[in-house]
Amino acid sequence: MVTGASSGLGQHIAIRFAQRGARLIITGRDKSRLQTTYDQLKGEGHVQVTANLTIAEERTFLAKSASNLNGLVHCAGIQKHCPIRQLSEQLMTEMYQVNFLAPVMLTQSLLQANAIAQQGSILFMLSTAAHIGTRGLGPYSAMKSGLIGIIKCLALEQAKRKIRVNGISPSVIATPMWDVHQELLTQQKARHPLGLGTLDDVANGAIYMLSDASRWVTGTSLVMDGGAVI
Ligand SMILES: NC(=O)c1ccc[n+]([C@@H]2O[C@H](COP(=O)([O-])OP(=O)(O)OC[C@H]3O[C@@H](n4cnc5c(N)ncnc54)[C@H](OP(=O)(O)O)[C@@H]3O)[C@@H](O)[C@H]2O)c1
Repeated sequence: MVTGASSGLGQHIAIRFAQRGARLIITGRDKSRLQTTYDQLKGEGHVQVTANLTIAEERTFLAKSASNLNGLVHCAGIQKHCPIRQLSEQLMTEMYQVNFLAPVMLTQSLLQANAIAQQGSILFMLSTAAHIGTRGLGPYSAMKSGLIGIIKCLALEQAKRKIRVNGISPSVIATPMWDVHQELLTQQKARHPLGLGTLDDVANGAIYMLSDASRWVTGTSLVMDGGAVI
């Protein structure tokens, strides 16, 4: 299952997984964008479910569409720039609901329904913002680093079923998320010793994290940033 599959990283990861033979449940809010992803999935038996993951009933509906999942990738997310001094409760709540509550409670629903298979892999899309400070990214950064706490505890709780729980922390990748921040995107290039990354770079990390090649890796996050953090 890939959330946020109607755009950007989630869309690309879904397409790459299908090319590797995975049978997918893809989900997003926007029906026509989700259909565009669906149309690009190689192979047969894929399912698409439109859902707003901040709404409990829609999460439950999505969870009911799944059984025996080998992998779960949480890509749905939003980024908004706002210095803490100008922060409103409304914006903070939105960041919490989309970037933290939704992936955590979807995972909870799937685990409670025993919908994740033994030796399955759960992957949360984090960000380098979970590891470093960035002016104006406080609410986003807080939610992504909060997920690191969930990852560590859940990894311990699920180890008995050999279900692994990890994160991927990419730096800047040009996706629709950056459409309104084109100027910032250009500035970002300078702080990446290896240059900016691509959708494929992150998809390759996700493939590793979901495959048995990472069978001994749990409770951690893979920073993919072309050296930006160092
Ligand atoms: N791009 C980067 O530079 C970057 C770097 C580090 C981490 N990330 C993380 O990677 C993930 C994907 O980002 P992206 O760049 O691919 O962004 P994107 O192109 O804007 O895609 C965001 C996805 O999240 C979905 N989404 C947003 N709110 C939702 C909600 N309430 N319910 C269900 N789905 C929702 C969107 O669905 P609809 O389009 O259908 O509304 C879309 O599929 C995010 O978690 C982001 O924080 C991105």
